Amino acid sequence: MKEIRIGLIGYKFMGKAHSFAYNNVKLFFDIPASPVMRIICGRNEKPLKIAQGKFGWQEYETDWRKVVKRPDIDLIDVVTPPNAHKDIVIAAAREGKIILCEKPLASTLEDAYAMLDAVERYGVKHAICFNYRKLPAVALAHQLIQQGKIGKIYHIRAVYLQDWIVNPEFPLVWRLQKEVAGSGAHGDLNAHLIDLARYLVGEFDEVIGLSQTFVGERPILEEKGDLTTGLVVTEKSNKKGPVTVDDATLFLARFKNGVIGSFEATRFAPGRKNGQRFEINGSRGSIVFNLENLNELQYYSQDDPEAERGFRTILATDGSHPYAGSWWPAGHIIGYGESFVNLVADLISAVSSGQNPSPNFHDGVKCQEVLNAVEESIGKRQWIKVK
Ligand SMILES: NC(=O)c1ccc[n+]([C@@H]2O[C@H](COP(=O)([O-])OP(=O)(O)OC[C@H]3O[C@@H](n4cnc5c(N)ncnc54)[C@H](O)[C@@H]3O)[C@@H](O)[C@H]2O)c1
Repeated sequence: MKEIRIGLIGYKFMGKAHSFAYNNVKLFFDIPASPVMRIICGRNEKPLKIAQGKFGWQEYETDWRKVVKRPDIDLIDVVTPPNAHKDIVIAAAREGKIILCEKPLASTLEDAYAMLDAVERYGVKHAICFNYRKLPAVALAHQLIQQGKIGKIYHIRAVYLQDWIVNPEFPLVWRLQKEVAGSGAHGDLNAHLIDLARYLVGEFDEVIGLSQTFVGERPILEEKGDLTTGLVVTEKSNKKGPVTVDDATLFLARFKNGVIGSFEATRFAPGRKNGQRFEINGSRGSIVFNLENLNELQYYSQDDPEAERGFRTILATDGSHPYAGSWWPAGHIIGYGESFVNLVADLISAVSSGQNPSPNFHDGVKCQEVLNAVEESIGKRQWIKVK
């Protein structure tokens, strides 16, 4: 069987999620090529080495420039913060590597364009990790919409609610720094909602937004050496620094096909840990998805006999549901990590047959154009056309 040898740049949250995918994809999917977990890369050797052993990578390397140049690597997977995506992606494209990049594609729209330009110029296959598309219930929603089951779409309302920075003493991590993250809840959470809206509903036409930073300053993190373990540890200092991103961003949208939508992303919703939910209403029915019950899709059909109408819950674990047939017997549910496995299965199948995976950098750029238009609308306090 053919092999796809992978170099993973980054080793923390998404490093673990992507490693989970590479470790499990062959167990569940009959894919035309095997992923080989060749090398994992990060800047701090000691924790990197621990991740290498724990996640199952053959080697580790502290310089990503060396990884992208290695001839025994076919695919570079970028799971660093957004401002580090561009240089790695462009260097990897120059070396002819297949590229998987985390979302948002970049920290600025200009970087996103440069990255799309590079993968096209060097003719390499590219994918972006909008993993929620790959959940069976979400893919089923797409299928039902494509089949016309909810008719002509009128509305999408989507929220993505978290609470991990409600405490004002939570430190100034990279996700709260504009030059690293690009934006806050907006680029992190609305990026997923925008991609799902494009996938399920259509292209954005114009947007108007509103954002707020509730806690303007937070304790700065300092790196210190731990003499006992020899590890570099980060600790909160007494000094504070400015939060330069939004804590919450809401926006309204008009789509090119006449759909109207509302979107809300916040990190200040106590009790909501990763509360993503969307509802889509059409002339023949509605669908509702709630990530906290990710195996389920709610579906209401106007075509049901009047006396029997009501939302039904479809447990999207049947062999006939997207992806589900590759997992467990019906009713044996899956979880968050499996979305990454499904995405990697699609990626390997696509590149093995010479196709570009979906979603890819075109979707990354389109998402970034919407993110940008919302930010522009907030700055100008007016509706902005999406490019
Ligand atoms: N698809 C999703 O649902 C999802 C979820 C979380 C994060 N993300 C995205 O994944 C990316 C990484 O987020 P994370 O949560 O894993 O962050 P993280 O902080 O947990 O990990 C970031 C990793 O990048 C490494 N790194 C940072 N700067 C680097 C540089 N200049 N060169 C090399 N390595 C560098 C760090 O050492 C660390 O290993 C971001 O783009 C984020 O938006 C996506």
